[in-house]
Parts: sequence; structure tokens; C-alpha cells
Amino acid sequence: MFTPFLIFLRGLARGVRSCVGSSGAAPAPKYCLCLTEMLESNNIINFNGLANSSSYHTFLLDEERGWLYVGAKDHIFSFNLVNIKEYQKIVWPVSHSRRDECKWAGKDILRECANFIKVLKAYNQTHLYACGTGAFHPVCAYIEVGSHPEVKYLKTYISLFHSHFENGRGKSPYDPKLLTASLLVDGELYSGTAADFMGRDFAIFRTLGHHHPIRTEQHDSRWLNDPRFISVHLIPESDNPEDDKIYFFFRENAIDGEHTGKATHARIGQICKNDFGGHRSLVNKWTTFLKARLICSVPGPNGIDTHFDELQDVFLMNSKDPKNPIVYGVFTTSSNIFKGSAVCMYSMTDVRRVFLGPYAHRDGPNYQWVPYQGRVPYPRPGTVSTLGNLVI
Ligand SMILES: *[C@@H]1O[C@H](CO)[C@@H](O)[C@H](O)[C@H]1NC(C)=O
Ligand SMILES: *[C@@H]1O[C@H](CO)[C@@H](O)[C@H](O)[C@H]1NC(C)=O
Repeated sequence: MFTPFLIFLRGLARGVRSCVGSSGAAPAPKYCLCLTEMLESNNIINFNGLANSSSYHTFLLDEERGWLYVGAKDHIFSFNLVNIKEYQKIVWPVSHSRRDECKWAGKDILRECANFIKVLKAYNQTHLYACGTGAFHPVCAYIEVGSHPEVKYLKTYISLFHSHFENGRGKSPYDPKLLTASLLVDGELYSGTAADFMGRDFAIFRTLGHHHPIRTEQHDSRWLNDPRFISVHLIPESDNPEDDKIYFFFRENAIDGEHTGKATHARIGQICKNDFGGHRSLVNKWTTFLKARLICSVPGPNGIDTHFDELQDVFLMNSKDPKNPIVYGVFTTSSNIFKGSAVCMYSMTDVRRVFLGPYAHRDGPNYQWVPYQGRVPYPRPGTVSTLGNLVI
């Protein structure tokens, strides 16, 4: 049986530029946008408290229609990109009984017992797919996006009216404070989230679509150790879409146990899009999941590295070759003594090389990660396998 492997991605931090606060040593940023100046210039519109909502955390750009959708507390807004003041909204609250249940469970009525929209994806030409926390009872819906060609000033509308609602477990977290990362490809939703009320069962899921849902192993810290998901991207491996891979970016506990102190590692995890799960202990579990450490550090004097381990955001800059976008990560330090942030850049060639490199492995929760010395099984774990198709 395979246990998940872990690989270290070392020496990838290139062109690290520290942008550390206001200390005199830090290089001046190239561009600086100051909020008060922007407010004074009237180039900024403040939507704070829009429709008495808050938590505008989920964004989806619809370039074709020229709209920006924003998921918030109990609402989804769509802003006209040409005239951002023109917007429409869907009100999507939870029922009174749902809110009361949430309150009785000891949650905060204003900050937790509402429907915080966490997933907002283009589903097909006429619908979005959206999920919210549903007052600790995640829920999803298909949202109609249409046009009124006859009504000039109201070119596009969004509506929940005919929606079909579904259980949002494994798609949106229960707790609005938790981060979630999701991607909808070919009618299937990949999401890194927590799938329980307590916020302990973190996993990478694939749901929707025709296949049986697939996830990472439950409560096994070798797969995921209290992760916080940042983003997820599809990156082609070759010209054949069958080889496509899905990359998850997250940070997680570096060490198990209560007494080891706080240590975080930034991670890149991969799965193959054509992974349909395995046999025996891996039925409905990923067979191609691998993760590696993303290191972002400034080598210091006396051999003391400054490590930026708290991955905060990821941006993929597309190049001419869709197989090789440049990955930018924004990191902060974990240390209370030295606070700083950095941007590190990674190439997909280096990422792929690391996933083809040596494995690390650990026998159980009380063991250390050590280099894997045994024979690497065939097919190599983590490789796209056409055999995978035969398993379903
Ligand atoms: C927002 O809430 C205030 C106070 O409860 C209320 O007076 C106001 O009408 C609300 N505005 C909207 C747009 O719902
Ligand atoms: C998009 O998906 C929705 C929900 O499944 C469905 O009702 C609708 O017909 C689909 N639209 C198109 C153009 O396929």
C-alpha cells in the first residue's frame, strides 16, 4: 500500500526581494497606492456596508459579460465593469431555523450564523456554481446568469429563482473564518477545505460531475496536517488534456504533536486530473497526491536563513507556453521576533523536477520524515497513469 510521499522543494527561491515594513534597509516599492490619497482623488468607490452586507471575500471575473461577481455575507453581487456603480445583488440568507440551530450550537449570530459565500465559479454558459457556509451547514446552488437584451440599462441579471440547491459539504467550509481554495474544471469541483463542523477534517476533494467523489485520507497528518488552503490551479503537463495536473497551494503544520512548538511549511500539492481513486484502502482516495515544500528564504550570514513560511497568496503569470506559467508566492514570516514579507518566484520546470526527485516518507505519526530508501514502485507515485482510467 502507498503512503503519501513528501518531497522537499529546495533551492527554488530566486530573486527574493524583501519588502519589509518601513525599516530603512528595505528597498522602496516600485508602486505605492495610498488609500487616503486615492479617496481624495475620487478614483475610488467605497462599497462598505453594501446592502448591509460584509465579508466581501470571494471574487469571480466574467470578462465575456463584463461583470465582476462578489460573494459576501448572505449576498452575491455583480458589478458592471464599465460602470462599477451599477450593480445587482442576490440575497441568499439562511432560514430562521438554520440560524437558530447555529446559535444553539454556541456560534456567534452575526459573525458565524449566516451564509458566507466561499465558492463562486463559472459552471457553464448560463450558470454559476456558488457555495456558502449556510450558518455551519454548507450549501451550494446553480445561479442563473442571463441577459435582458430588451432592457438596455439592465443588460445582465443573476438569479437564484429557479435554483437547485445541494449539500455543500466538502466544497465550502462550515466556519466562515476558514480559508478554502477551489477550482471548477469540466463540471468537476476541486476544493481544499474543512468538511466538518469542528473544522478538523481538512481534505482536498473532487465533487460534482459524474464520478464518485474523491478525497485525501481522513485524519492522517502525513497527507495534510491542519492545512490552510490558498489557491488551486490547473496546469497542463503536455498537449494532451488527459495529462493535466491540478496544483494546490497551502500552508500547514510542519510538525505533529502539541509540544513541538509552532512551525509552518508552505506547500505545493499535485494531483492528476484523470485520477479516479485506487483499490482497497485507496478507494475514493487520490492515488496521485504528492506534496513538496515551497521554500522562500534569504540566506543570511553565519548560516542563519531567514525563512518566509507563511504562504499568503499565489499568482500565476501566464507565459506563451500554457505548461509553464511563472508561480509567484507571497509569504510572511512565522517568527514573532522578525516580522517580514517576501515574494518568491518558482518555475514549473523546477516544480516538476522536484516531483520527479527523491521521496521522503514517514512510518507513522510519531516518526520523523526521512528520505525514502526503498525501491520506488511502478508506476511511480504521482504520475499520470492511463491505468487509472481502468480502475473506474
Ligand atoms: C441597513 O440597516 C439599517 C439599520 O438596520 C437600515 O435602516 C437600512 O435600511 C438597511 N439598509 C439596507 C439597504 O438594507
Ligand atoms: C448549465 O447548468 C445548469 C445547471 O445544471 C442547467 O440547468 C443549464 O441548462 C446548463 N446550461 C447550458 C447552456 O448547458
